Amino acid sequence: MEKNEMWEELKGRCNNCRACPLCETKTNTVFGTGNKNAKLMFVGEAPGESEDLSGIPFVGAAGQLFDKYLSAVGIRREDVYIANILKCRPPKNRDPEESEQDACIEFLREQTRLISPEIIVCLGRVSAKRLIKPDFRITQEHGIWFKKGPFKMCAVYHPSALLRDASKREDMLRDMMEIKRAYGK
Ligand code: URA
Repeated sequence: MEKNEMWEELKGRCNNCRACPLCETKTNTVFGTGNKNAKLMFVGEAPGESEDLSGIPFVGAAGQLFDKYLSAVGIRREDVYIANILKCRPPKNRDPEESEQDACIEFLREQTRLISPEIIVCLGRVSAKRLIKPDFRITQEHGIWFKKGPFKMCAVYHPSALLRDASKREDMLRDMMEIKRAYGK
């Protein structure tokens, strides 16, 4: 199977997934968006209301703020790939449960294998704990590079955290500038 076919097959399986109860309450599956050959991939937590309604990650208030950081450092959203740990929205945006993450993570693994990015950036604590290390401390370890297999990885604050606490925005800009430096484009 060639890459496009594998991608469509994976997307189809994800859309039809019934491995956890979130498929009962979602509107749309939010598979991911962007360049399937991206060098840089961002991974958030789970779809919120706007994402559930549109089927596209990071389009609500947090996503719009995230877009401003991408523009500020000169990264084009269409050049990167953006996905989440969970593909379906948890009711009332509660934190994803461990069992939901376990049920969904293989989709992200397969996406990552097909995209084969050089850099993976976790957006927020939930993604960093799952993808970098279980004891990840976002306040102390944001912006720090980790090598995991073939990937250069780091985490930044989740854009929703920046909406709640503007004092984190300076750190976010610094981290995003460092990501742009590593990305190089
Ligand atoms: N928050 C996330 O973690 N992901 C989205 O897609 C939207 C909000």
